[in-house]
Amino acid sequence: TKTPITVTLTGAGGQIGYAALFRIAAGDMLGADQPVSLRLLEIPQGMRAAEGAALELTDCAFPLLAGVEISDAPEVAFDGANVAMLIGSRPRTAGMERGDLLEANGAIFGPQGRAIGARAADDVRVIVVGNPANTNALIAQQHAPEVPAERFTALTRLDHNRAVGLLAAEAGAGVAQIDGVTIWGNHSATQYPDLSHATVGGAPALEAVDPQWARGAYIERVAKRGAEIIEVRGGSSVASAANAAIEHVRDWMLGTGERRTSAAVVSHGEYGVPEGLISSFPVRSEGGAWRVVEGLAVDEFSRQRIDASVAELVSERDAVRQLGLI
Ligand code: NAI
Repeated sequence: TKTPITVTLTGAGGQIGYAALFRIAAGDMLGADQPVSLRLLEIPQGMRAAEGAALELTDCAFPLLAGVEISDAPEVAFDGANVAMLIGSRPRTAGMERGDLLEANGAIFGPQGRAIGARAADDVRVIVVGNPANTNALIAQQHAPEVPAERFTALTRLDHNRAVGLLAAEAGAGVAQIDGVTIWGNHSATQYPDLSHATVGGAPALEAVDPQWARGAYIERVAKRGAEIIEVRGGSSVASAANAAIEHVRDWMLGTGERRTSAAVVSHGEYGVPEGLISSFPVRSEGGAWRVVEGLAVDEFSRQRIDASVAELVSERDAVRQLGLI
């Protein structure tokens, strides 16, 4: 029998937390033979919802669930964490200035990063879901100098999965036939879903669909899919976001094989992305580490799109620097 892996979720009393907890406890994230201990971090207003979720976890009698603890103190919740899923944040609301948004998130992700650095297990892996995800991940990382920078990542897997799903529908293919889709840059409206190197059934995607569509309406649809879900469903993406976070962690820990996916990871200058930014790249995972897939040709159109999204990340980084948040 394996030692349980400790997974800490922040915002565990919220919607994505609720959609993620049961699948993690059922073994969807770490494997069907891997016990898991859950730690739920909430703010005082969210504690009752987290407690309720914990009662329901008991009622599922999951054989893999070794324990559930709930806390509103980051130092307690991240103690011994092997996986940290940072879901709770202060997303932008109507009329909110960027400075206020970043300030509010600095107050969340600075202390959480510090607690991860001080308390988490040596092998801790962090995925930030709460928006603005890339910059929140950077803030947390900068407060945890004890932890290798590469262990802080942000979620663009939902964008990736949306891009794959919409391509499959357009091409009339199954998602299993698709590989090589990339999300570049920021998890925001500037993101660039790129089909230049994608394949459908082994053949170039740009031959399976109209290239005009791929470089026009498609990009727009993927980038604005979150708004489309809100409009149709009357609420933001929840189950698909939880699913993406689970797949990100599963691939990170268990590997992707030859299959390619997308994740926001720390740049070492790949594809001209300034070093230190947490930006989405084409990635594979091997031996418990993300590797940026290098050597893909970038044409003029892609270059402009990547640069525009990366410029937004640079400006977010500069803004949090100016505010003294990193
Ligand atoms: P929600 O509002 O239902 O839940 C958020 C929870 O976080 C609440 O229970 C709240 O009490 C808690 N929370 C707030 N501050 C906290 C802190 N400092 N420590 C611990 N818990 C805290 O929101 P939902 O729908 O679960 O979404 C969570 C976040 O995920 C949002 O920021 C949203 O914008 C983001 N998101 C990101 C996506 C991505 O692809 N990267 C996709 C969808 C959502």
